Amino acid sequence: MIFQPASLAHVGRVGWARELARRLLAEPLPRRWSHTRGVAARAVSVAHIVGGDADRLVCAAWLHDIGYAPGLVATGLHALDGARYLRDVEKAEERLCRLVAHHSYAAIEARRRGLAAELVAEFPPVDGLVADALTYCDMTTSPDGAPVAVADRLAEVITRYGDGDLVAESIKEARAGIERSAAAVRAWGVG
Ligand SMILES: [Fe+2]
Repeated sequence: MIFQPASLAHVGRVGWARELARRLLAEPLPRRWSHTRGVAARAVSVAHIVGGDADRLVCAAWLHDIGYAPGLVATGLHALDGARYLRDVEKAEERLCRLVAHHSYAAIEARRRGLAAELVAEFPPVDGLVADALTYCDMTTSPDGAPVAVADRLAEVITRYGDGDLVAESIKEARAGIERSAAAVRAWGVG
């Protein structure tokens, strides 16, 4: 399975994901990098519930927001821009790309941006607990990387973008799904 360049094989796939995220986010977007580190720590803490997807969940946590990196912004839907970069430039495995493409109910924002069809055509959603876990990790981590309740996280996003903004309205629409995902994770006695 091709997962990362052979030259990085010694650091493992989680190390590859972490270093890639660091390279893309740490300098240009330090707050986004802090958030990413918090999401990854959250993922490590719940990874045991997703069985064979454990490493993949942690990789996806490191990489879920790389689509915000200045050089990667293309469509404006960061989940899609990040997934395309992983697929086309990093030659990352398909399931990881699909997780990043759909993290935190990105399909809702995609629809509002007119990108739903291409998102789903290129990256079919991943069903099940690993997708719930990624969303849980993202939606229980503040922009600064601190653990936070889902309700507070959603309120912060809505305040930051403002009522009526496409991102704010998308996250409002995603609320029920996000809460379902969080409940699915907590049913395992974690979080
Ligand atoms: Fe995030």
